[in-house]
Amino acid sequence: MTTSNFKHWYLGTDDEQVAWLCFDQHDSAVNTLSSATLNELAQILTQLAQDLPKALVITSAKESSFIVGADIEEFTKIKSARDARDLVERGQNVCQQLEDLPIPTIALIHGFCLGGGMELALACDYRIAEDDPSCRVGLPEVMLGIHPAFGGTVRMIEVAGPTLGMDLMLSGRSLIARSAAKAGIVDKAVPKRHFDLAVADYIERKPAKARASKAQQMLNSAASRPLLAKVLEKKVAEKARREHYPAPYSLINLWKQHGGNRKAMFAAEADSVAELVAHPTSKNLVNVFFLQEGLKKQGKIIDAQPIKHVHVIGAGVMGGDIAAWTALQGMKVTLQDRNPESVTRALKRAQTLFKKKLKIKRAVQAAMDRLHPDLNGDGLKKADLIIEAIFEDLEVKRSLFQEVQENAHSDALLATNTSSIPIEDIASVLKNPGRLVGLHFFNPVAKMQLVEIVSGPQTQAKIAARAAAFAGSIKRLPVPVKSSPGFLVNRVLVPYLIEAVYLQKEGHSIEEIDEAALQFGMPMGPVELADVVGLDICQKVASNILGEDKVPDVIKQKVDNSQLGKKSGTGFYKYKKDKPIKQQVSLTTEQVQQIQDRLILPYLNESVACLDEGIVKNEQLLDGGLIFGTGFAPFTGGPITYIREQGADKLLAKLKTFEKEHGERYTPHKGWNNL
Ligand code: NAI
Repeated sequence: MTTSNFKHWYLGTDDEQVAWLCFDQHDSAVNTLSSATLNELAQILTQLAQDLPKALVITSAKESSFIVGADIEEFTKIKSARDARDLVERGQNVCQQLEDLPIPTIALIHGFCLGGGMELALACDYRIAEDDPSCRVGLPEVMLGIHPAFGGTVRMIEVAGPTLGMDLMLSGRSLIARSAAKAGIVDKAVPKRHFDLAVADYIERKPAKARASKAQQMLNSAASRPLLAKVLEKKVAEKARREHYPAPYSLINLWKQHGGNRKAMFAAEADSVAELVAHPTSKNLVNVFFLQEGLKKQGKIIDAQPIKHVHVIGAGVMGGDIAAWTALQGMKVTLQDRNPESVTRALKRAQTLFKKKLKIKRAVQAAMDRLHPDLNGDGLKKADLIIEAIFEDLEVKRSLFQEVQENAHSDALLATNTSSIPIEDIASVLKNPGRLVGLHFFNPVAKMQLVEIVSGPQTQAKIAARAAAFAGSIKRLPVPVKSSPGFLVNRVLVPYLIEAVYLQKEGHSIEEIDEAALQFGMPMGPVELADVVGLDICQKVASNILGEDKVPDVIKQKVDNSQLGKKSGTGFYKYKKDKPIKQQVSLTTEQVQQIQDRLILPYLNESVACLDEGIVKNEQLLDGGLIFGTGFAPFTGGPITYIREQGADKLLAKLKTFEKEHGERYTPHKGWNNL
């Protein structure tokens, strides 16, 4: 094979005169589409068009990805709609050059193929992807407050049809290669060892390019688009408000207006994204992306002793799901409980999770094989990490850890999933209290990305770092926090949930309270959230944080009556098929604002306190932790960013007014003075 090198791409031609173009972005762990990498690609494609090979195959030299998307750093430097349009047009032009090549073009995909990378792949004639759960394709641009803009809105719909194509772009979800092949978005999903054969086959056969079914093409017609657009808007509105998240609405509008007309849609796609980039939501969502990267960095500790075997004690809601998630991510897990039924239930839930996430039978079986029921606790002696997730009771936990330290390996990391007990109170039974760290997962484990890494005053830094590295290795976002009542997430949530109860006492309906919070941008209202968490758990956590006397009576009464929330079918709401039965509400703008202030100010006040008391190290970790741990309206960029954007003085003045009206629940924390 002859090769010629560019800075970011290797171009070679094999004996069959097939050109192989390998993307290997200089000085980067992953490939992204930036001005530099796109300019070089444009040059290469021009060169290939002048001296045509038999076919072109695009691959990646990076271990875990094909192309992860556009370069987001570059995105942050965009200052004007003109700059945005330039970047978009560059991407559109390169994809067009690729599509125009009169030879078979193939994207040979492994790992992540997302955003701009997927758009590039869609501009190829064929997509062959690795049949492995690690290979994922998708267009997640909405998560950054934009939509695809390198021609992807046009090509995705041509290939997948409007139903699936719009769904993928509106949700930002990705598909594993096998599902993508079923949907026709990739032409073939094969094991990597069959890549060469598959490539040769497509070059030889040159089948027609994949196109959506006739029925789907009908849906793309001028007559059908407005109808489907209405349905899509309704669906989007259930999840995201237009004023908070304009991108999905712009995408629907773009398609409704121009779907089926390539040229017009390319132009409108560029205009629409140039506009979205200038919207504050996009800036804040890009910031959230960096907050997420910042949290990921907390888990990337290179010299942390690796963890291969995890022993979980307590196979209840949390322990069972932590064990399943850990096994899903490739670790050996032993799961101990004194109640065999808990283990059986946990294994059943694990199987459902594996099937949902892995889809491939042998991968599901392999994950099940990694998860071992262990009623006698034999795994304890050999495990690198022991996670305790038994009842929330200090004495029970202390006596368990006394036993654990006798049997565990001397190097094993000892962790507790306690949600409210100070780490030091548990650790004091240990010969070496510095060994214990909190690994506080949230419910449901498979959905909630955040894990608080809780350090007591004696927890050794290397122990906390190892725990954070473990969380990172199982694809969770670790946020290091100082041990104190409620840590970060529960401490901030409790006053917010309690305030909802006061609002109800004052005569607001629970539906009104939740509606106001949704309009603020929270993913779920506080009343429903309390029901989902479980009122018994809320009661315990709140009394640990605030003291028992500060927990509103209505919560105690409901717990005494076994009205525990969603899990018991009744809490504040009544539940039918796991969904709360809600009355319609109609609120004026002023009422909404008033309820929002009452709910959000205690939340913000507590966030300020956590920052001031050093519960987390800095604003970024606080904003990231609370977006990923409590769902704080992501389009705002997080609570501290929100305070800065709204003006700390203005919010502080409101707090002081509320303090006069409602008492010390609103007493501003001294930290406001430092903002
Ligand atoms: P759970 O009641 O569902 O499960 C506890 C399990 O521990 C039961 O299966 C029980 O049989 C077992 N167990 C109790 N003592 C044991 C012992 N000595 N040896 C072996 N197994 C024993 O409780 P859940 O909700 O899973 O909570 C566990 C821990 O996780 C608690 O510390 C809780 O505060 C914390 N947590 C709970 C969250 C939630 O939403 N449920 C969220 C985050 C943390």
